[in-house]
Amino acid sequence: MGGSNPYLSGDVPDPASQKFKITFQPMNVTVEVDPEKIPYGVTGLPGSVLDIALAHGIDIDHSCGGVCACSTCHVIVRQGINSTSEMSDGEQDELMEAPGLTPNSRLACQTVPDGSQDLVVEVPAWNRNAVREKSH
Ligand code: FES
Repeated sequence: MGGSNPYLSGDVPDPASQKFKITFQPMNVTVEVDPEKIPYGVTGLPGSVLDIALAHGIDIDHSCGGVCACSTCHVIVRQGINSTSEMSDGEQDELMEAPGLTPNSRLACQTVPDGSQDLVVEVPAWNRNAVREKSH
């Protein structure tokens, strides 16, 4: 499932226009994001952390299909948060439901990096069982 939540409105942030990297923790997998390939899929905002993660075999939970209607895609941006899209009211509302909130918590499906910095993104412990790494 993908697309957008029809109950929310607002501007969709522009995806990255330059290459950058995201390191997913604790699995310690680094992926290079190529703006030419955005959107990678149909889940989450185009070029969002979730869009990028799923395309690279990092299976972050996403119960609502990436439309900002749950909090299961909660991640913690450990590095590079200043290069991510501003949090919408809808994201803020859903995020309030997530356990273990931190000041750098975001919803992966709504967080769109602009590519100006590399990111380190932690997938919280309660979400790790769902994580599988792509075999190379
Ligand atoms: S997958 Fe539901 S809010 Fe991100």
